[in-house]
Amino acid sequence: MPGKVDGRVALVTGGGSGIGRATSLKFASEGARVVVADIVPQAGEDTAKIIRDAGGEALSTHVDVTDEASVGSMVEFVVSEYGRLDCAHNNAGILGPVAEFTEYSREDYDRVINVNVTGVWLCMQAELRQMLVQDPPDGGHSIVNTASVAGLVGSPTIPAYSVSKHAVVGMTNSAARSYGARGIRVNSVCPSLIDTPLAQPLYENTESETRMRLRQAIGRFGKVEDVAATVVWLSSPDAAFITGVPMRVDGGSLA
Ligand SMILES: NC(=O)c1ccc[n+]([C@@H]2O[C@H](COP(=O)([O-])OP(=O)(O)OC[C@H]3O[C@@H](n4cnc5c(N)ncnc54)[C@H](O)[C@@H]3O)[C@@H](O)[C@H]2O)c1
Repeated sequence: MPGKVDGRVALVTGGGSGIGRATSLKFASEGARVVVADIVPQAGEDTAKIIRDAGGEALSTHVDVTDEASVGSMVEFVVSEYGRLDCAHNNAGILGPVAEFTEYSREDYDRVINVNVTGVWLCMQAELRQMLVQDPPDGGHSIVNTASVAGLVGSPTIPAYSVSKHAVVGMTNSAARSYGARGIRVNSVCPSLIDTPLAQPLYENTESETRMRLRQAIGRFGKVEDVAATVVWLSSPDAAFITGVPMRVDGGSLA
């Protein structure tokens, strides 16, 4: 049986770890050729090798999503290797310090905004330019940005992160409205707490871990595979009429 994204070319940023690695693996297991991009080249290559060892098709490339030239080279690499770009998952992101609003330094604020907002913006620009000169595949081209539940509601302990993820939802929706009629769907996923290196500072002790877990209606933290399955489904023809949706993958925590 063909996979959900059979024969498509998928690009994942931040694919060397956590959610990005899981999405890369899921894209590959559903039939896509995958380019794994990360600021840590070895991490990206490790993900690509896992895919190749399992019989899939994948390459890795270095990217710093805050650097426009580096983002341009990443998309050029995808097109030079695989001829086109059908699905993009703009996922690279950082948490920044866990600190109250008034305690946040300007430097930390700028760093979070630079990676999480400007990084996604630059990736979307380069990807959209490429997609606009291609014929869309069945169900349209797809861009999925990783936002967060912190992009839908306020977050007292990670305020700059919350600002950044609200911006991701906003730029996703703007692009969805601009490009829907031209065969490009743009959605975001909004995970709650997912067990990855990024989330470790949020549950530094058993008490906060228990509190965070109880906030999920489903009673457990999310898994990277929960997010990966959603991203790949949103990228597939099954989601052909879905664009501009900030999709919660949050175990019901905001229900
Ligand atoms: N883990 C969670 O609880 C959670 C919840 C909601 C949203 N998210 C979001 O999911 C995304 C992935 O996070 P994760 O939890 O898998 O974290 P992670 O730290 O495991 O992975 C993040 C990856 O992004 C890469 N990266 C960081 N800065 C980069 C840059 N400038 N250019 C290119 N790559 C860069 C890192 O090297 C790493 O491989 C992030 O956008 C994060 O904000 C995570």
